[in-house]
Amino acid sequence: MKNIPHKIYLTEEQMPKYWYNLRADMKEQPDPMLHPGTLQPLKEEELCPIFCKELAHQEMDSTTRYVEIPEEIREFYKMYRPSPLIRAYNLEKYLGTPAKIYFKFEGNNTSGSHKLNSAVAQAYYAKKQGLSSITTETGAGQWGTALAEACAFYDLPLTVYMVKCSFEQKPFRKSVIATFGAKIVSSPSETTKVGSEILKNHPGTTGSLGCAISEAVEAAVSTPNCRYVLGSVLNQVLLHQSIIGLESKIAMESIDEYPDVIVGCAGGGSNLGGLIAPFMQDKLNGTHNPRIVAVEPASCPSLTRGKYAYDFCDTGKVTPLAKMYTLGCDFIPSANHAGGLRYHGMSPILSKLYHDGYMEAISVEQSKVFEAATLFAKYETILPAPESAHAIYGAISEALKCKETGEAKTILFGLTGTGYFDMVAYQSYMDGTMNDYIPTDEDLQPGFNSLPKV
Ligand SMILES: Cc1ncc(COP(=O)(O)O)c(C=O)c1O
Repeated sequence: MKNIPHKIYLTEEQMPKYWYNLRADMKEQPDPMLHPGTLQPLKEEELCPIFCKELAHQEMDSTTRYVEIPEEIREFYKMYRPSPLIRAYNLEKYLGTPAKIYFKFEGNNTSGSHKLNSAVAQAYYAKKQGLSSITTETGAGQWGTALAEACAFYDLPLTVYMVKCSFEQKPFRKSVIATFGAKIVSSPSETTKVGSEILKNHPGTTGSLGCAISEAVEAAVSTPNCRYVLGSVLNQVLLHQSIIGLESKIAMESIDEYPDVIVGCAGGGSNLGGLIAPFMQDKLNGTHNPRIVAVEPASCPSLTRGKYAYDFCDTGKVTPLAKMYTLGCDFIPSANHAGGLRYHGMSPILSKLYHDGYMEAISVEQSKVFEAATLFAKYETILPAPESAHAIYGAISEALKCKETGEAKTILFGLTGTGYFDMVAYQSYMDGTMNDYIPTDEDLQPGFNSLPKV
């Protein structure tokens, strides 16, 4: 038996100096984003009115395999990275599984999640370009918190459109975002044309990431020297999040381990895309063949029940179209407690990999997710975010399969964040008032009917 410690911390010197761009190794590229007006493939310069220049470049660059992480960003990363790779010995023991369970813990920073990895990069490029302000959306509030933190550091004004159901469920998230100096608006709101329109058509809506994106984009393009930033889905965000997978791989190599199965939760796909990046590289190059499993909520099943089609990235249909697994931009998911997973679409990179058979996906009801979360909290003493607990559920399922077959597989999962602002959800699980809404095929149909004809 190797003597593997509970936690593996890399040194600051071992932290990667380059992000890894998975597209450079994909045999077939994801289909290009389309201009919403002309339906022609989008050009880099057409993205510049919405995104910062450098980020527009990263979005379109599918050939540069390794992108140097600017020194200023690496210095910021050093305040909370490298993040630990942890062996879940106590969970393994409780489950009685021969499997070895590792998790990469990204909740060890004040923002509480992996979102800071891309937030700092995006705020840095915005500041470097001399922008006066930026806008964004947030679902669960983790991205808004992370970006507020990064913008405070770079002294950059920020407005966050927060999905209404999270805005109401998580008052302290708002306080944290406000403490870091950002302005926060409940979405849909009357402050934008698109928000007013959505409110008119769906009075009483709890909002969705798709609505909040539309509002944030409208605010950015109608404000001088302002741009919009997004915390998931985009190629640039997966690029920044590759730091998760790169560190995981170095740490696993240091103990002579390689994952047989990699599990991650999937909202827009950024943590999963980042975690799997260097392992997917091995899979694409044929040197290893790990199984990769995405876990999504049964209430918002983009990969497992969505269609692979061109769709708008937002509800108001103001963004470019992306080819992705989608439930249709008009689909407004029920008020699930994993707010960060309530998105109608999925990263085009992950969608393509899933479509081509490089990944699997499962969906799960929230009460099962909270059962896994409380079990994990008890045995590993970390209170997970509801989003992250989807990955815990997936990892436990894999470990239990190993118990049946007697195989000592190595499982790696992404623990994206902590759930200290999600106590209303935990309370509802404990009180037995949590309900598991699974949309019927009829419920999904209107969303599919809204897919643009391309
Ligand atoms: C803690 C946490 N994990 C996961 C996600 C899902 O996002 P993504 O799929 O982009 O990683 C979110 C999104 O808000 C989140 O807050």
